[in-house]
Amino acid sequence: QTDIPAVKSVVTEFPVGAAITGAEIIGTHGDLLARHFTSVTPGNALKWDATEPTENAFTYTQADPLIAFATAHGMKVRGHTLVWHNQTPAWVFANADKATLLARLENHIRNVAAHYGTTIGVWDVVNEVIDESQSDGMRRSTWYTVTGLDYIRTAFRVAREVAPAAKLCINDYNTNVAAKRDALYNLVVQLKGEGVPIDCVGHQMHVNVSWPSIADTEAMLKKFQGIGVEQQITEMDVSIYTSSGESFPTPPADRLLAQAYMYRDMFALFRRYAADVTSVTLWGLADDNTWLDTYPVARKDAPLLFDTRLQAKSAYWGVVDPT
Ligand code: XIL
Repeated sequence: QTDIPAVKSVVTEFPVGAAITGAEIIGTHGDLLARHFTSVTPGNALKWDATEPTENAFTYTQADPLIAFATAHGMKVRGHTLVWHNQTPAWVFANADKATLLARLENHIRNVAAHYGTTIGVWDVVNEVIDESQSDGMRRSTWYTVTGLDYIRTAFRVAREVAPAAKLCINDYNTNVAAKRDALYNLVVQLKGEGVPIDCVGHQMHVNVSWPSIADTEAMLKKFQGIGVEQQITEMDVSIYTSSGESFPTPPADRLLAQAYMYRDMFALFRRYAADVTSVTLWGLADDNTWLDTYPVARKDAPLLFDTRLQAKSAYWGVVDPT
């Protein structure tokens, strides 16, 4: 469809991005991507298991073609992610005392961030470090149990040193939930107070057709105002499911309509907060390739703006024609 407005020609307040794999840069997928979006995030290709599967043997064969596509089409790149508890090879955590773990972390970031230099303008330096059910709000990953907060301090310090022009983000999900939001806020304020170079808070925004409320999402954006950080929506998708027990063979019309209103209202909110929100990325290009087809259970989901045949959905119209 070339007779409909490009998302990027309508939403001009900030870059609008999509998470991509090798499939999204080929043929009609690549055309759709370049036509509508101004930013990309490699969905898996920059994770530790992809870039350093064995110690000190770095490989960029998955990510480089994605980043070359972005550069060729004048798109920005969000780097996702330098430190996470998932998709990290077992060797990283094997026989690791604190000094060893931090040395592996530092070597990883030095290599990956240096390989891309200024082509990656934003990094999710750490991902999903909060667990609001813990008294100190911190997820009990091996990173945390072995190093405390030092893995976060080290990650940001090294990233800043190697990629001084990049915006450095701390990224997490469910930041619209008050307890999670407040735990993340407390951590960011503490670390920034120590001089840790955090530029940006990333809100993943994996939501669904009836959750969360716009009011709670606005409270999330307000909370992080005035502490010297940009905010980015980093992984938005709107599941048609409202519980893990549901499964539909094809997306019901009422869910697709509710989804369109959710996209409409969320994008209207983000555009109102454009002074704070410096990019919005969707976690996928079209419904033929979404992680929600397997997570949290195997069932066909349809969480994006374009359907499995790459046709614009009501969700697309919610974004580009919000009236
Ligand atoms: C997901 C990918 O999309 C899947 O392909 C992979 O199997 C698992 O990870 N939060 C994140 C992303 O920060 O890295 C996750 O991406 C989705 C949830």
